[in-house]
Amino acid sequence: MRERLLAAERVKAIEWKHGRLHLLDQRKLPTETCWRAYDSAAAVAGAIRDMVVRGAPAIGISAAYGLVLGLAARLGAGDDWRAALEEDFDILAASRPTAVNLFWALNRMRERLDRLRADEDPLAVMEQEAVAIHDSDREANLTMAQFGVELIRKHNSQRQRLMTHCNTGALATGGFGTALGVIRAAQLRDLVECVHVDETRPWLQGSRLTAWELAGEGVPVSLNVDSASAHLMKTQAISWVIVGADRITANGDVANKIGTYQLAVTAMHHGVRFMVVAPSSTIDMSLENGDDIPIEERAGSELLEVNGQRFAADVEAFNPVFDVTPADLIDAIVTEKGVVERPNTEKLAELMNRKRLH
Ligand code: MRU
Repeated sequence: MRERLLAAERVKAIEWKHGRLHLLDQRKLPTETCWRAYDSAAAVAGAIRDMVVRGAPAIGISAAYGLVLGLAARLGAGDDWRAALEEDFDILAASRPTAVNLFWALNRMRERLDRLRADEDPLAVMEQEAVAIHDSDREANLTMAQFGVELIRKHNSQRQRLMTHCNTGALATGGFGTALGVIRAAQLRDLVECVHVDETRPWLQGSRLTAWELAGEGVPVSLNVDSASAHLMKTQAISWVIVGADRITANGDVANKIGTYQLAVTAMHHGVRFMVVAPSSTIDMSLENGDDIPIEERAGSELLEVNGQRFAADVEAFNPVFDVTPADLIDAIVTEKGVVERPNTEKLAELMNRKRLH
């Protein structure tokens, strides 16, 4: 399975080449393939804020490389490079607030920096750490895909209808995806009749990115407006909603793209199972429950305008871009450390104490 999954890895959003970060500009997809090169921490922070790169794991990986770029500049500029680097930590940490993978990656970079020995080359060590963060996310994707597909098969080994929201694929991660990785694995196991993809207003990650990734691999896709999901669950015999996460708190509450919460409520009403797929770097054990997760609010213009042209009435718009799904609406959280069914505080704590499997 692992080899077949690796062979299915075609799309990439992040490349570290010759000391520069290259990002596929996701704002332009699917009509244009445009790679942009970055050589400073501030520029990477800007790319994260402006959605050139998006998706929780991809944001974390990019921030780690951004810090390496910051370090390269600080080392060249003077003696007190450690103090100066704090500015880069801060600017990267301020780029987006909800996905904890960003802070997890920056913490991991800081821990490595703190362990730096006098005989080590700081730039080489930190570059190695960023590459390790990238590689381990890819490995986690593979493991989660296998766990997730087993869970689907356990309940039903026939072809089935799945639903997903936002984009959790190769574009959002270091590998081929979290929720979309499970869906890819299900397709390889011949378990997919159709994937219903929510368009995911207002950035349209579903219609622009997820539909593009899946269709490119010949996975049967049907796109729907976000508000069609209840109707689809009632009429289309959907077996699973499978989504990613931006932050999971100690009790199993899940922050993900706005609209995920209403999908979970709707799924519960219709007896559709609800699976969250995320690496353990998305689990924030420092927060007791989802009420404490900072929810990003973006500009109202994202709702009021298309391509800079206003189409809405002359009103204010409220644009929270994530919401929190309570743990009791979730059937399973799939991570690279294992699967937690019916998540709660005890089960999450036990999961986080497990050793990584790879
Ligand atoms: O605003 P985005 O596009 O960064 O939001 C992305 C999501 O909500 C994803 O579902 C989540 O980050 C998981 S990606 C594997």
